[in-house]
Amino acid sequence: MKNNQWFVRRLADCNNVTDLRILARRKLPWPIFNYLDGGADDEITLRRNSAAFGDYELLPSQLTDISHIDLKTRVLGCDIDWPVFLSPTGASRLFHHEKEPAVARAANKFGTIYSLSTLGTTTIEEIAAVTNGPKMYQIYVFKDRGITRDFVERCKANSYDAICLTVDTQVAGNRERDLVTGFGVPPDLKLRSILSYIRHLPWSVRALISGGFDMVNVTSSPGVSTEINEGVMAYVNSQFDRTLGWKDIEWLASQWDGPLVIKGIQTVADARKAVDSGATAVMLSNHGGRQLESAPAPVDCIAPIADALGDRLEIICDGGVRRGNHVVKALALGANACSVGRGYLFGLAAGGQQGVEHALGLLRAEVERTLALAGCNSVRNLSKEYVQKR
Ligand SMILES: Cc1cc2nc3c(=O)[nH]c(=O)nc-3n(C[C@H](O)[C@H](O)[C@H](O)COP(=O)(O)O)c2cc1C
Repeated sequence: MKNNQWFVRRLADCNNVTDLRILARRKLPWPIFNYLDGGADDEITLRRNSAAFGDYELLPSQLTDISHIDLKTRVLGCDIDWPVFLSPTGASRLFHHEKEPAVARAANKFGTIYSLSTLGTTTIEEIAAVTNGPKMYQIYVFKDRGITRDFVERCKANSYDAICLTVDTQVAGNRERDLVTGFGVPPDLKLRSILSYIRHLPWSVRALISGGFDMVNVTSSPGVSTEINEGVMAYVNSQFDRTLGWKDIEWLASQWDGPLVIKGIQTVADARKAVDSGATAVMLSNHGGRQLESAPAPVDCIAPIADALGDRLEIICDGGVRRGNHVVKALALGANACSVGRGYLFGLAAGGQQGVEHALGLLRAEVERTLALAGCNSVRNLSKEYVQKR
């Protein structure tokens, strides 16, 4: 149902991820919601990421035994209960005081991988203490390589299953919504923002009393500059290493002897370089439309990369996934799994751990129902026979 906003007041009213977005907008101050929801420049890529799934149709195989639907799969060295996992997202404390541990617990409950961001508000060690489920750590490479080495050692010591290097954020994208709302550290308080912080008193009071917004993985790393007073985006611009190249991937692969994911790949040529440099998986991603405007939608990147390199690396479709049918289409096109960012963050904002579980529960049920309706009884049996471009 479209235009549901008047009816969505509680988690129980949310029948899909779009409803959770509506509830998240209600719960969060205006600048915070727009930081979560927004993209770069004119947000063409942001919109296209989801819309592109609509360019594909599912071709059902009728009269197939669907009495048991098997959603289990294996990706990044982990057996997971269904083919969706959680993308790394920074600063979850902004969206709910239960922050990253709530998301990690929900992921574990749903038998899938949680990814912690370098820019998270919970440490590598704290996540390891709250979940024994599969987990990945996402790395940004700072100018000081010692910091990256330190991240890798901490991941080893805390039994992380995989690490992921994000390669599309060497400079910050142009997020104009943040300029309008004055989102930043410290915030540029506009009148509308002040009114919104006042209207969202539970969020604001808790923020003032308990804080917890520090990027603790960075601040706990020896030698790193913690001067983030200029704002997150300015921090990215000053601290991240713009000279990063494929040789550095080889170096990272030599430091970490487990699954190594390169996140932000969009072309066959780069996917080939990734695997040749030691990566075991690529996340086809444009950072949820937050970085390069007019980058291709991840779903459109799957088939060419799967055809060229599907036997050499695992392929994750990251971006725009809001529905179970998106997941089924991505897998039919050749992806090994999908990952979601905003899909679970809307849930987190809407209701903490319970909200994330609600989001994952809805998505999982949709994947299962779509598979049954498509006449496919296992995610491992999905192939191009089930999908066509319109
Ligand atoms: C609020 C927010 C924060 C994010 N922070 C990070 C991050 O710290 N590291 C990273 O690699 N990607 C980050 N991303 C991108 C996500 O990992 C993922 O690529 C993107 O959300 C996928 O698109 P989707 O939101 O449509 O699912 C962030 C995305 C959002 C929405």
